[in-house]
Amino acid sequence: MIKLLSTPSQILTINTSGKNLKRGKDLSEVNAVDEHSIVIEDDIIKDIIPNSSVKKKSFDVVLDLDDKIVLPGLIECHTHTAFTGSRADEFRQKLDGIDYEKIAESGGGINSTVRAVRKSSFEEIVNEVKPRIDNFIAQGITTLEIKSGYGLDFENEIKLLQVINYLNEIYAIDIIPTFLGAHTYPPEHFNNQDEYIEIIKDKMLPHIAKQRLARFCDGFCEATAFSADEIKTIFASADANGFKLRLHTEQFNAIGGLDAALSFNAVSVDHLEVLKEDDIKKLANSDTVAVLLPGVSFFLNYQYAPARKLIDNNVVIALATDFNPGSSHISSLSLIMSFAALKMKMSIEETINAVTINAAKVLCLNDKVGSIEIGKRADFSVFNCQEYANIVYDIGKNLNCITMKNGDIIYNSTELSFN
Ligand code: NIG
Ligand code: FE
Repeated sequence: MIKLLSTPSQILTINTSGKNLKRGKDLSEVNAVDEHSIVIEDDIIKDIIPNSSVKKKSFDVVLDLDDKIVLPGLIECHTHTAFTGSRADEFRQKLDGIDYEKIAESGGGINSTVRAVRKSSFEEIVNEVKPRIDNFIAQGITTLEIKSGYGLDFENEIKLLQVINYLNEIYAIDIIPTFLGAHTYPPEHFNNQDEYIEIIKDKMLPHIAKQRLARFCDGFCEATAFSADEIKTIFASADANGFKLRLHTEQFNAIGGLDAALSFNAVSVDHLEVLKEDDIKKLANSDTVAVLLPGVSFFLNYQYAPARKLIDNNVVIALATDFNPGSSHISSLSLIMSFAALKMKMSIEETINAVTINAAKVLCLNDKVGSIEIGKRADFSVFNCQEYANIVYDIGKNLNCITMKNGDIIYNSTELSFN
């Protein structure tokens, strides 16, 4: 079936010069074109043609997008969406001045959600997570990463990964599971931490690899979680089991996580709020993406990652919500783009590339999605606004009105349809 997305006011991002990622000066280019339409064949972008050469009759169906702006389907590359329960009580404690690390030390934090998840059945988790996925789709997100990390024993980590894989089957969007068994130590291993690492290495990783429950293995290198040496031990095993590696690191303390991740060629290092000036050059020109999470800084009233310095040093950067119940209970990706612009001094164009092509790079899908280029998946978000700046400028507002995945409309708040 040949479809036409006809006469939008603008299309972006249509060109990555064959690189499928953006860094340095390229990051501020969204390559917008006016007066063009998009041809889709089945689930693939076939062509981007000038409106003057459009003959509507030669298409099976046409969707008129007058005055709308078409972007690639947005990519949310870092979330902890698979949780149950609420941590509103901790939010109250935070408002009273108790900080996130203190709450974690006293048994709250990640382990409070672990208690909730362990009590929840597969079906209960699915039912709590579904509306969150619907909310991401309504924003124009067509590829969504979700981590485990709230089970922290064999049974419950597998249960979470099975939930995430099941959700990927029943939803039209791509849901990418990440194994985060090394999120923190569960209470039963506070006093025998080596044993938990053995369980990750000898039981969880081989099983997850064999059952193909996740392609990515993530960890949290932090004073309250895993040391750099512990992460290296886990990564060596994950690497041997064929996983691609990611790391939450330099969030509160710089304790060697960045070096550990780089020594394993991790696909991303995430957070970096306390990244040292001298360490920025270690990421310069590397293919490891710096995933910045300004929602966490906002939510915790904490310092922001040095986005400008990273960009000026040619580091590939992506943006994500880090949606989770404790440190970023924020599920709006456009709000994150606004924070990135206002708090980290990123330009509007830089924020757009950071949630499209560079976020696709984090998930190793940048040859298939993340830009509107011939041969890529027909994944689009359609924004109802005068100019693309509104996506970032209209703070906290969802301007996406149509989400398309593989050439099909999967969310639509307009009266428009393929005719
Ligand atoms: O990415 N840094 C560790 N993990 C999450 C927080 C998860 C939680 O508090 O539940 C994060 O910020
Ligand atoms: Fe996270």
